[in-house]
Amino acid sequence: MFERKHLKNLKGYVSGIQPTFNNDIIKLNSNENPYPPSSRIMDCLKDFNFEQLRFYPSAKSDSLRECISKIYDVEVENIFCGNGSDEIISLVFKGFFEENSSIILPYPTYTLYETIAKIQNVNTIFINTDEDFSIDIDKILSTSKKATGVVIVNPNAPTGILLSVEKIKFLLNQFKGLVILDEAYIDFADENSSCLNLIKMYPNLIVLRTLSKSYSLCGIRLGYCFASKDIISVLDKIKDSYNIDTITQLIAEEGLKDRAYFNINLEKVKRTRIRLENELVNLGFKVYGLNANFLLCKPENGLEAKDIYDYLVDQNIFIRYFNQKRLADKLRISIGTGKEIDILLSHLNKLVTEREMSFEPNF
Ligand SMILES: Cc1ncc(COP(=O)(O)O)c(C=O)c1O
Repeated sequence: MFERKHLKNLKGYVSGIQPTFNNDIIKLNSNENPYPPSSRIMDCLKDFNFEQLRFYPSAKSDSLRECISKIYDVEVENIFCGNGSDEIISLVFKGFFEENSSIILPYPTYTLYETIAKIQNVNTIFINTDEDFSIDIDKILSTSKKATGVVIVNPNAPTGILLSVEKIKFLLNQFKGLVILDEAYIDFADENSSCLNLIKMYPNLIVLRTLSKSYSLCGIRLGYCFASKDIISVLDKIKDSYNIDTITQLIAEEGLKDRAYFNINLEKVKRTRIRLENELVNLGFKVYGLNANFLLCKPENGLEAKDIYDYLVDQNIFIRYFNQKRLADKLRISIGTGKEIDILLSHLNKLVTEREMSFEPNF
C-alpha cells in the first residue's frame, strides 16, 4: 500500500527452483558450477581470526581489488567489487540512467536487466535476436538513437551465443552511450573472447564479471566490473557503505588466487559440455551456443520441452524451462558433473526410446 506507483505491476525476478540441497537432487537449473570451490578457501577460513568480525570490512574491498588487478592486469582504480554482479547491475542503472530514458537489450537475454530497468523507471527496447539467436549489431545500431545504453550479455544467457570482439568493437565505435557488457560466462568460451582490454580505449564500456559461475562461488555473492576511472568513481559514490563483508572478501581472494584449480575445473566443464552436446544431438535435440556452462536445446524428436522438464522434476532432476516467447519449446541445461550428466542422459534416452516405441507399427 505504500509502494511506489511504478512498482505496482512489477513481477520481480523469477529464479529457477532452488530445492534444499541434498545428495539425491541433480541441480542443473541455475548455471552453478558442479565442482566445489578451491580448498584453499577452507584452509584460510580455518586460520581466520574471529576477532576481525568486530571491525567493519574494507569499504572498497582493497586487498581483493589488488588481487583482481594482478590477475587481469588492470589498474585497481578501474575495478569495482559488488555484492554479486546483480548488485553492480542495479548500481549501474541507479547511477547512469535517468528515469524515462531508454536502454536497448537483445531478446532473449538475462531477465534481471528488465526487472532492474523497471525498478529504476528506465524503458527497455528489446531487439529480437536472429532465428539462431545471434545478436545483430546493425539492428541494435538502427534503434540506438533512442537509447542512452545498450546491454550485451556475452556469451548471452540463456542462449550461449557469443559475439566476437570485432562486433563489439564495431558497436562501441558507433554508439556513444553506455555499453554494459556482461561477461558472467566468458571463462567458458574460447580464449581471447573477452573484451576486457577494450576498457582502455572506450570510456563508455563497463565489463561485468562474477565469481558465481567459473569459480563455484555463487554462495558468497561477489561480482566485479572493469571500467574507466570516471565510471568506477560513480559506482563508489552510490554503493552501500560496506557492500561486501569481510568473509566474502577473504573467500573471493583465495578463490581467485587458485589459478591451477580454476583451470582444471574449466576444462572439465568444457569437456562435459562437448559430450552433452553430442549426446543431445544423437537424441534428436537441436543445440544452440556452445560457449557457456549451459546448453540451450530444443527437442526435435516429437517430445515437448515442458513434458521433459516435468518428467525430470519428478526424478529429482532440475533443469530450466522458460515459459516465454521463443523459449517455451526449449530447455536450458547447466553443465553438471560427468555422473550427473550420465543420469540425465539415461532419463532422456528412456523418454526418446518410449516415444519411438509408441510409434512403431503394430504387426
Ligand atoms: C548473465 C548473468 N549476469 C549476472 C548474473 C548474476 O551473477 P551474480 O551471481 O554475480 O549476481 C547471472 C546469474 O545467473 C547471469 O546469468
